[in-house]
Amino acid sequence: HSAYEFFGAHQAGITTPVQDHLHFASFDMMPRTDREDLISLLQDWSYAASRMVQGLEVSATGAVGGPAEAPPDDTGEALGLPAAGLTLTFGFGPGLFENEDGDRYGIAAQRPAGLERLPAFLGDDLDPQTSHGDLCIQACADDPQVAVHAIRNLSRIAFGRARLRWSQLGFGKTSRTTAAQATPRNLFGFKDGTANILADDTEALADHVWVSSNDEPAWLAGGSYLVARKIAMLIETWDRVRLSEQDNIIGRDKGEGAPLSGGDEFTAPVFDSTAIDANSHVSLAHPDQNDGIRILRRGYNYVDGNNALGRLDAGLFFLSYQRDPAQFISLQRRLSTDLMNEYIRHVGSGIWAVPAGAEPGSFVGEALF
Ligand code: HEM
Repeated sequence: HSAYEFFGAHQAGITTPVQDHLHFASFDMMPRTDREDLISLLQDWSYAASRMVQGLEVSATGAVGGPAEAPPDDTGEALGLPAAGLTLTFGFGPGLFENEDGDRYGIAAQRPAGLERLPAFLGDDLDPQTSHGDLCIQACADDPQVAVHAIRNLSRIAFGRARLRWSQLGFGKTSRTTAAQATPRNLFGFKDGTANILADDTEALADHVWVSSNDEPAWLAGGSYLVARKIAMLIETWDRVRLSEQDNIIGRDKGEGAPLSGGDEFTAPVFDSTAIDANSHVSLAHPDQNDGIRILRRGYNYVDGNNALGRLDAGLFFLSYQRDPAQFISLQRRLSTDLMNEYIRHVGSGIWAVPAGAEPGSFVGEALF
């Protein structure tokens, strides 16, 4: 598949088969902007996004079709490249609804009750430079240049209304959203995404991912909540851990991804024996141990160079979609005794309400206004 629809009941980029590359961007609204600025920004973003996902330039004049005396509409580096499965998924952060300047956009009354900065979790080591934001855009594509082109041009379109707060590149998906996709591996070397919610599991999506029309607020029906966590991995330390202990920490075996209670990758784990450590990641994260809570994971590996000691600045850029932020909060609290915690640090965090998809002729988030 090389091109996905921008318009539809749900935004693309959630159940869409996970693409190979990510450019995630968080934005803050500029001071002194008003409701009209926000609406026009969302309209302009939607229009440009609906073109770029087809492999088109941001406007009809594009990179070279405009006057020679003006900077081109499109920056040009995606000329000649296909759509590469690009999806652009937009989200609204807590600060958009109310901040130090008050209810600047007239939407404070529409703020979803659960949309607030995530509580502090045990072991959090968050950097404000990779956390939070009024708006976010998740760009996923099978070509990194296509994803970067999209974020670059959407940032440019936002000029004067919103500015980039932080952004993250990711590669090598760490999850799958369709049964046809082979389970990829994270930087610990383990298969990741085995027990994920898949695109054809309509019932699980309705129960755990999509905000329903019976939920509050009504404008978010058909949408979801996105949690991003930048999780640094202490990979040099991990790489000195013996294989049997690595398996024990995850609760699955490294080769096949089978639960340590036996079977193959897709055999359900059995927790009532001693085969799986009660504090292994899978044991703590499994729905059986969490009142049935599930989430749709869609994260990516990252490597942001290295530090002065020659250690890779690497990890997992965790992205999850859920019907209610409480699902993530409850799981993350449960993971406080995770054996894996010795080898990871949560260094970035953000939460956004992701509205339903836009109808042709409308823009993403229109129901909010
Ligand atoms: C499962 C790795 C962080 C929630 C797994 C699996 C691996 C893994 C290898 C087993 C295969 C699978 O079913 O996908 C990691 C790594 C992390 C991380 C390396 C951090 C660097 C998180 C976080 C959460 C989470 C922050 C949520 C708060 C889950 C869930 C499952 C899972 C719900 C499925 C459990 C099941 O149903 O069996 N993870 N994970 N993970 N993880 Fe993580």
